[in-house]
Amino acid sequence: MDSIKEEIESLRRQINDHNHSYYVENSPTISDQDFDMLLKELERLEREHPEYDDPYSPTHRVGSDLTKGFRQIVHERPMLSLGNTYSVGEVDAFVGRCREGLPGEEVEIVGEMKFDGTSISLLYENGRLVHAVTRGDGEKGDDVTDNVITIRSIPLQLSGSDWPARFEIRGEILLPWKAFDRLNAERAFNEEPLFANPRNAAAGTLKMQNSAEVSRRGLDAYFYYLIGDNLPYPTHYENMQAARRWGFKVSDAMRVMRSIKEVDEYITYWDTERKNLPVATDGLVFKVNSLRQQLNLGYTAKSPRWAIAYKFQAERALTRLRFVSFEVGRTGVITPVANLDPVLLSGTIVKRASLHNADIVRQLDIHYDDMLYVEKGGEIIPKITGVELSERKPGTEPVEFVKHCPSCGTELVRVDGEAAWICPNTYGCAPQIVGRIEHFVGRRMMDIDGIGEETARMMFDAGLIRDIADIYDLTSSQLLTLEGFGPRSAERVLEGVEASKSVPFPRVLFALSIPYVGETGAKKIARAVGSIDRLMAMTADELTAIEDVGPRIAASILEYFSHESNREIVERLRRAGVQMEVEASDGPQSTALLGKSVVISGTFALHSRDEYKSMIEANGGKNVGSISKKTDFILAGENMGPAKLEKASKLGIPIIDENRFLEMINQNS
Ligand code: IVH
Repeated sequence: MDSIKEEIESLRRQINDHNHSYYVENSPTISDQDFDMLLKELERLEREHPEYDDPYSPTHRVGSDLTKGFRQIVHERPMLSLGNTYSVGEVDAFVGRCREGLPGEEVEIVGEMKFDGTSISLLYENGRLVHAVTRGDGEKGDDVTDNVITIRSIPLQLSGSDWPARFEIRGEILLPWKAFDRLNAERAFNEEPLFANPRNAAAGTLKMQNSAEVSRRGLDAYFYYLIGDNLPYPTHYENMQAARRWGFKVSDAMRVMRSIKEVDEYITYWDTERKNLPVATDGLVFKVNSLRQQLNLGYTAKSPRWAIAYKFQAERALTRLRFVSFEVGRTGVITPVANLDPVLLSGTIVKRASLHNADIVRQLDIHYDDMLYVEKGGEIIPKITGVELSERKPGTEPVEFVKHCPSCGTELVRVDGEAAWICPNTYGCAPQIVGRIEHFVGRRMMDIDGIGEETARMMFDAGLIRDIADIYDLTSSQLLTLEGFGPRSAERVLEGVEASKSVPFPRVLFALSIPYVGETGAKKIARAVGSIDRLMAMTADELTAIEDVGPRIAASILEYFSHESNREIVERLRRAGVQMEVEASDGPQSTALLGKSVVISGTFALHSRDEYKSMIEANGGKNVGSISKKTDFILAGENMGPAKLEKASKLGIPIIDENRFLEMINQNS
């Protein structure tokens, strides 16, 4: 076989693998820039050797975000992508090409941020939002209207009156840095996998089936492209300023420029200044300002000739690997961590970077003593993106993932279909036990004042507590034997232990550390079953009948209670006085909406959507995301979308306004 063909095939294989890590596993194994280089090289070879073309080559796909479970809507105009550049010179060349394509004309260029989120297209008719659609495969996308209307900065009804009767506006849905950090902190706390960057978090959030959760996460949106037959102004810039007056968020960074010098200065300025923005950006976009000129320049098959993206260089440092540690979490998951020679990266000193899991360690092919590239692109957690092979010392061994638990020596196991290796010695492995104790006493669980992470470990090491139930047998004289403990601190712990006996059952259930039973899950399960005794007696079928409990959670609950030691812990906790059933006030306060399934739509004057959601639950009802045959009624505010109205009337589902709803729950409560 000739070597060109081999090279083409090797590139296709590499690109497909990287695509898989990026889109499927949400954990990219290569920087965007290196990825684009591979793709460009493949495009070049395929262009020069059309005899090796293959309809399945990754160069023929634009990528797709289509997800099962969402209705699809065909874009009236396809959602295209932009050509990428990585240097000022390439941007200058783009400006040159535009000028050449428009001989004798003055060409204005608009510079703006390239927001690093997930793209969205909104349709407005008569000033009202009709629907919101993701990019999908560029031709058709997912209808995510229910989730998009929870984003407070997106206008459902436009201000002013100079908007076209019908238009589309496109932009980027983002999770601001602050909200991203908060979400990841919560996920770390629940030992759920972290989002690698705000882009993945925004994309994942937008595709959730539970719009109340979407609302809670705090998405935001910026808009950068207005499309329609009767746009009010002849330039992109003026139209975007108009859009801002109508109520859309449009970046202040947008600027009109007339010379290459101004363009270059704009790049230099934003290369550093972007770090002070509240949202992630991965570059800049330059567009020809005049819509007529845009039309004249036209499109290639994939992108407009009148716009180009300039990608920021990810911040990267090269440093030596000291050693790899393997850390055991509360649920037994083993995380490989690269311990590095300290290195300065985007203003912070990096000493450790997660290597995520065994697959990633293998893909990166790290050897001991290697020089590694650490990157902080759009990500907060530094990650290892590659090895500098030219600096590899001869004879070094590749890093091997451990086969046995670094703490207790038990042979590790791998759960089917998951990347993680787990230490199965759940009840005998010290870091897992200590992790569960730390979790149990934490603020959102039993909130035992006076026992923090440090103290929990100390108590375990001193043999005072071997499991969570031992906490209730602690005595003052035992505590006084601990280093740093005096009568005051001992008293504080005992008071904290006493106070924890009134923590409501849903939090107790969460505190037990049943794998896969998170905070929200525990709440739902506790309310559905009422008591630990009922939960312990349930079968898999009964468990999966509970809202949001799937086979994995059901199996985990069954497995937890199949251990005599866990049942004993529950008994000892109960005898100590810990709450093992829901009290009346934990559950619904009235039965006005018992068993009713309610969809909330539109915007309200008297209460927020979240408040209405709580009221529905407090009255025994269930808030669901989308209209179906099973919906009992729709609680509708202003601006309920026409698509929803139509669906509701087709299925004959009653629509109730907020006044009527409030009457409904007052009458019966
Ligand atoms: S304009 C036809 N402007 O980048 C041109 N796109 O690779 C349409 N993006 O899918 C896009 N910021 O998700 C444009 N200021 C901006 C942008 C932007 C981010 C995203 C968008 C698009 C991708 C193009």
